[in-house]
Amino acid sequence: MRIAMVGSGYVGLVSGACLAQFGHDVICIDKVADKVGRLRKGEIPIYEPGLDKLVVDNVRAGRLTFDTSLAEAVGNAEAVFIAVGTPTRRGDGHADLTFVYSAAAEIAEALRGYTVVVIKSTVPVGTGREVSRIIREARPEAEFDVVSNPEFLREGAAIEDFMKPDRVIIGVETNRAHDVMAAIYRPLNLIQTPIVFTNIETAEVTKYAGNAFLATKITFINEIADLCEKVGADVHDVARGIGLDGRIGRKFLHPGPGFGGSCFPKDTLALAYTARQANAPQTIVEQVIEVNDTRKKRMAQKVIEFCHGSVTGLTVGVLGLTFKPNTDDMRDAPSLDIVAALEAAGAQVVAFDPAGMKEAARLMPSISFAESAYDAASGADVLVVITEWPEFRGLDPRRLKQLMRQPRIVDLRNIFEPEELRSLGFAYDGVGRRR
Ligand code: UGA
Repeated sequence: MRIAMVGSGYVGLVSGACLAQFGHDVICIDKVADKVGRLRKGEIPIYEPGLDKLVVDNVRAGRLTFDTSLAEAVGNAEAVFIAVGTPTRRGDGHADLTFVYSAAAEIAEALRGYTVVVIKSTVPVGTGREVSRIIREARPEAEFDVVSNPEFLREGAAIEDFMKPDRVIIGVETNRAHDVMAAIYRPLNLIQTPIVFTNIETAEVTKYAGNAFLATKITFINEIADLCEKVGADVHDVARGIGLDGRIGRKFLHPGPGFGGSCFPKDTLALAYTARQANAPQTIVEQVIEVNDTRKKRMAQKVIEFCHGSVTGLTVGVLGLTFKPNTDDMRDAPSLDIVAALEAAGAQVVAFDPAGMKEAARLMPSISFAESAYDAASGADVLVVITEWPEFRGLDPRRLKQLMRQPRIVDLRNIFEPEELRSLGFAYDGVGRRR
């Protein structure tokens, strides 16, 4: 299959490289010439484990190329994927579809022969129809079908999620488009991946319902964690206890400082907006948004209470700034709220993150950055774990204790063993664990 990928950001690049790995001929398009130049040289602008090798291998094999101009690639393609950004619109929280609609208009001009236009970007229900209308209006004679094929990629595990997905969702309305999509994903038949063919609206709703459900699951266990703290229960055992019920499932029950990132906050807001517009308000999702926002802010208060009510003049060492490990992404990271509130309360913050410090320095210019986790602990009055990078789990608590001014840890991801730290003389507080 000849595929054009419009947009070479996170989703476009990962999807393009993986589709090339499936054996298709893929051209990834991006308007930013400098980015395309770097991609051609094998320089990957984002942090995603394994992506650099996948790109380089497929470029070498001649299956993956990059270009700034959309016209020729779209003209030659059997399928054109739209993978441009859909940020949150300022003011009302809805998804901003400017990039999707302008891509649709450009694609319309370039279509030659029957082409399937696949929407990969996360877009609210109704967008597929609108893209179809835009193309039809611009080129009434064009032969095309619009398909919705949402992505379910987790940052840090995106390649695995694309190559070995739990399922593929395809919203499609004609047999012809169905056959093209089935051919694109045929390699997944070998690993017996369920492919759910449905209509466009259903595929669009499925994407948001999936993310909103996961965000709800996290928020639910976070509130249960608060209860556990008050009554002397342990949230990990509760999570295990309920998660072993196959109807609930064990994943996404890890308590923490609240969900962040480029998807859950944005998608829950957009779902709530769409639902209000459709007169089917999603009250659960609206509560999840509010509870999560409050939680992020409240985590700083937890640190302050742990330090006997004040952090004024204290040095707070922070481990982890990105919204989760194995990414350099700082979008809607809980650290942004927590650090801002600690600083406002008079603390000096010294932070270390294995990949996020460059972006963090831009977003939080007033804090200091350390060279390593031990360096962040050095001279600290309290150490706060915000992101569970694997390397933090292996830190030697004895060494941390020697370096810190006061041996105190607030572990917002429960990466340490409370008993071990307490027996070494630390004051320790986790999330949803006995105090
Ligand atoms: C999420 C979904 O997991 C993907 O399936 C989806 O495709 C993607 O959004 C998207 O819409 O593009 P991602 O945002 O990369 O992926 O990250 P997650 O691993 O889902 O984590 C999201 C947030 O939830 C993080 O802040 C993480 O720390 C938090 N989380 C996750 C918890 O606090 N507890 C958990 O048990 C799991």
